[in-house]
Amino acid sequence: MKKLENKVAVITGGGSGMGKVSCEMFAAEGATVCVVDIDAKSAELTAEAIIAAGGKAKAYPADITDETAMEALFADAAAKYGKIDVLFNVAGISPMGTATTTSLAEFRKVIALDMESVFIGCKYVIPYMERQGGGVILNNVGTYGLRPTPNKMGYAAAKAGALSLTKSVAIDFARSNIRCNAICPGFVDTPLNNGFTGEARQRFLDTYQPLTLEIQAKDIAATAVFLASDDARAITGQDIVVDGGTEAYLYFNYKKKTTEN
Ligand SMILES: NC(=O)c1ccc[n+]([C@@H]2O[C@H](COP(=O)([O-])OP(=O)(O)OC[C@H]3O[C@@H](n4cnc5c(N)ncnc54)[C@H](O)[C@@H]3O)[C@@H](O)[C@H]2O)c1
Repeated sequence: MKKLENKVAVITGGGSGMGKVSCEMFAAEGATVCVVDIDAKSAELTAEAIIAAGGKAKAYPADITDETAMEALFADAAAKYGKIDVLFNVAGISPMGTATTTSLAEFRKVIALDMESVFIGCKYVIPYMERQGGGVILNNVGTYGLRPTPNKMGYAAAKAGALSLTKSVAIDFARSNIRCNAICPGFVDTPLNNGFTGEARQRFLDTYQPLTLEIQAKDIAATAVFLASDDARAITGQDIVVDGGTEAYLYFNYKKKTTEN
């Protein structure tokens, strides 16, 4: 039996990167997938590819920061499929900036996209999950939510907020049989990181990531499938780090340190 047979999943950011691969993997594991993205065309392409491969999917063009649109989306999905078993919040942005180089408008934008949207998703999906006797919420946070790196102030603040929110939801709704976990990817090769390639990217990985493999969107999708499945029934309120070991050590410049020793 497939891991997500008969489950209904709403996945945001389904038009690209980790969201897209997650939509495909959830569908391959038997889930019916609601593909949410602000880019209507890319959401449609993901849904079409899933259907062409024999899976079940529907594109939902929507802005995750639009409360009214998201409320309507969950209502439509619940009416169409009879339930919503999983919400995977993946869509987001990753701007640079310090406290002095970030404008208030830019700060509010990253908070809206990377933190408030998680609140909106939880707020409007939980009533359906409570009514049906349970569900799973997964939030794609990132290791910067655990510890900031330089020049990522707004992003790190938004992700730290999303992580705290994850734990609150886990605690508040555990007795409704709703599990809520965060996934914290390290550096993943997706369109979001298209500007960070070649030597600079390699130097970054050599320096900061103990495992030499390249983390791919499928590594995050596979983690999400596990957390969404009944195999993870005892896991809630956690941050699951998928970063090749970066978060496990204190001092940077990993390669230099090991070759000298
Ligand atoms: N790539 C990484 O290394 C990395 C690491 C840790 C965390 N993350 C986080 O993972 C998430 C996804 O990253 P990715 O690398 O897959 O990005 P991506 O840019 O490949 O995909 C993001 C998707 O979100 C959609 N989106 C953007 N704004 C939206 C909105 N307002 N409403 C609906 N959809 C919207 C985009 O259209 C796009 O399809 C982000 O929250 C990012 O911060 C990424």
